[in-house]
Amino acid sequence: MRYAHVGLETAEYYVPGLPADYVSQRYGIPLAEISKLGSAENPYGSSPAALEAVRDNLETLHLYPSWTADPLREKIADTYGCDPSEVICGAGETEILSLITRAFCPPGDKIQMPGPCFPIYHLFAEAEGRIPVLVHTATDRQSMALNVDAYINAIEPDTRIVYVTNPHSPSGTWLEEAEVRRIVEASADALVVLDEAYVHYSDTPGYIHLAAEYDNLAVLRTFSKVYGLAGLRVGFGVARRAVVDALLAVKPTWNMGQLQISGGIAALDDHAHVARTVETIVKNRMYVQNRFEELDRFQIVQNSRANFFLVEILDPDTDSTKVFEGLLERGVVVKDGSVSFRGLDDRFLRCDVNLKQHMDRLVDALADLP
Ligand SMILES: Cc1ncc(COP(=O)(O)O)c(C=O)c1O
Repeated sequence: MRYAHVGLETAEYYVPGLPADYVSQRYGIPLAEISKLGSAENPYGSSPAALEAVRDNLETLHLYPSWTADPLREKIADTYGCDPSEVICGAGETEILSLITRAFCPPGDKIQMPGPCFPIYHLFAEAEGRIPVLVHTATDRQSMALNVDAYINAIEPDTRIVYVTNPHSPSGTWLEEAEVRRIVEASADALVVLDEAYVHYSDTPGYIHLAAEYDNLAVLRTFSKVYGLAGLRVGFGVARRAVVDALLAVKPTWNMGQLQISGGIAALDDHAHVARTVETIVKNRMYVQNRFEELDRFQIVQNSRANFFLVEILDPDTDSTKVFEGLLERGVVVKDGSVSFRGLDDRFLRCDVNLKQHMDRLVDALADLP
C-alpha cells in the first residue's frame, strides 16, 4: 500500500523519556527507587488547584466544550494582558506546533530550527512534507550557546517558520530579549515561533509581551512543566489575531476537553505551586552543578536556565548509550543524547533537575559506572 504523505514512508517517531514502571519491571528495581530524570516533569506533581478544578468539573463531560476553549482563552488573556482573540489553545504545545506547521509553511518550503532541538519541530515538518533545516551554530561545547548572527544568516527566502526555544532544549541556554527581537526583525517573511515551555525556570516573566509588537511572532507556553499537567495535555500560544485565526482554521474542532479547560484555568492561579517548584529547581540546579565537580569523567554544560542540563561525557572509552544503559541498571532514567536529539552526538546525556535525593542518586550512579 502507498501512503499519501512522504513523511509516512520513512516514519520516525518521538523518543520519549522511559516510564518509571517499565524501568522498575525490566531491571527489578522497586518503583520507589527509580529516579525519573528524562521527561522534565514536575517533581511535586500536578497543581493541586488544577486537580480540584478537574474533579469539580467531571459533571460537565456530557457537554461539548467551547471549540475555541473560550473560558481558558479569556483567563490566559486576562493573565497576560492581551485579547482572547490573540490566544490559541491546544492539547499541549505539541498540538499547536502541528497547527503552525500546516498553517504557515506550504509543503516543500523550509522550517528553521537550532540543532539540536525539541525533535517534534523536525518530525512534524517531515511528516507533513515540509523541509526542516537544523542550524548548528553552537561551536563551544561547554556553553552550547546559540550564535544569533549565524542563525539569522541561515534564514532563506523560502524559510516560512523560524523556531526559537527559550530556555533552549536540550541545552537550557538563554537568549536575552534583544537577541530574540533581532531574530524576529530579521525574519520578516517567516513566522517566528518562540517556544517558552520552560520559561518559569529562568526566573523571568519571559517574552509574551513581544507578541503584541510583532505580526510575525507566536509565543508558546505549556501546562506540562511547572504546572505539572503533562498528562492533561494543555498548551497555548499568544500571537496577533491574524496568526491565531489561521491556526483556528486548521485546528481539529473540539481539540480541548472540558477538563483541560477547567484544569488550565485553575492552574494559572496556583502561584504557590509554581513558586515552590521554581524555588526547588533553581536551588537543586545549583546543587547538582556543585556535586558534578566530584566527577572527572563527566561535566555539566554550564548555565542552564531550565529544569534539565546536558552532561558531557569526557571519557573516550564510553559513550552516551553505554552510560544511559548503565544508569538504567542503577534505577536512573535520563535521555541518551545520540538517540533523543538529532545532531547531538554520543558524548551527551540530558538529565532533569529534580529533588535533591534524585540529584544525589544521579551523581552517585555516574561515579559508580565501570
Ligand atoms: C521545548 C519543548 N516544547 C514543547 C514541549 C511539549 O510540551 P507539551 O507537553 O505542551 O506538548 C516540550 C516537551 O518536552 C519541549 O521540550
